[in-house]
Amino acid sequence: MESVKLYALPELPYDYAALAPHLSADLLRLHHDKHHAAYVNAANAILQKMDKARTDNADFDAKATFKELSFQIGGHVLHSLFWKNLAPATAGGGGKPSGSIAKVIDDEYGSWERFKKLFSQTAASAEGSGWAALTFCRQTNRPIIMQVEKHNTNVYPMFRILMVLDVWEHAYYLDYRNDRGKFIEAFWNIVNWTEVNQRFEKLMKG
Ligand SMILES: [Fe+2]
Repeated sequence: MESVKLYALPELPYDYAALAPHLSADLLRLHHDKHHAAYVNAANAILQKMDKARTDNADFDAKATFKELSFQIGGHVLHSLFWKNLAPATAGGGGKPSGSIAKVIDDEYGSWERFKKLFSQTAASAEGSGWAALTFCRQTNRPIIMQVEKHNTNVYPMFRILMVLDVWEHAYYLDYRNDRGKFIEAFWNIVNWTEVNQRFEKLMKG
C-alpha cells in the first residue's frame, strides 16, 4: 500500500524568545516559520511533482529537478540540525564543549580556542549564502570542518554533521544588519554542546 511521504517542519525545541539577546524572537520566528518552512514546502512540491509524473507516466527535467531538490532538502536538513544545536544559556547553551567531543576537538585542532577561531573563520568567509559545519569522518576518525555554499555545495558525502551555523543573511540581518562577525560571536553563547556531543557519541556507537 502506498503512503504519502513528505517532509515536515519540526517545532523549535525552545520558545521563540529563548535565545535572546543573542537571537531575537522576531528573527527566530521569521527564520523558522518562513524560511525553513519554505524549504520544506518546496521540497514537498518537487516530490509531489515527481509522484504525479509517475502516475501520468510523464517525463520531467531530471537535471533541473534534482538540482533544486538537493537545494531544498539541504535547506530543510541543515535548519533542522541548526535549531537543535542551539540552546538558551539557561538550558546549557554556550561555554566550552564537554564530553567526548571536547577531546576530539582538542586532539584535531590543538585547543578549543583554535577550533573556535577556525570555525568562525569558516563561517565568516562563506561566500554569499552558506553554512559552517563541524563534521566527522569515520574513515580517518577526524572531525573535519565543512563550508557549505547555499545548502548543498561542498558537502562531504556521508560525513555526519555534528554542528552547523547558518550564515545566510536571513539568519542574522534582522538583529545584526550586515555584521556577520558579531552574529558568529553570539553563536558561541548559544551552542548546545550536549546535543553536539550526543550526535558524536551516537555516531561512534553506530
Ligand atoms: Fe537559514
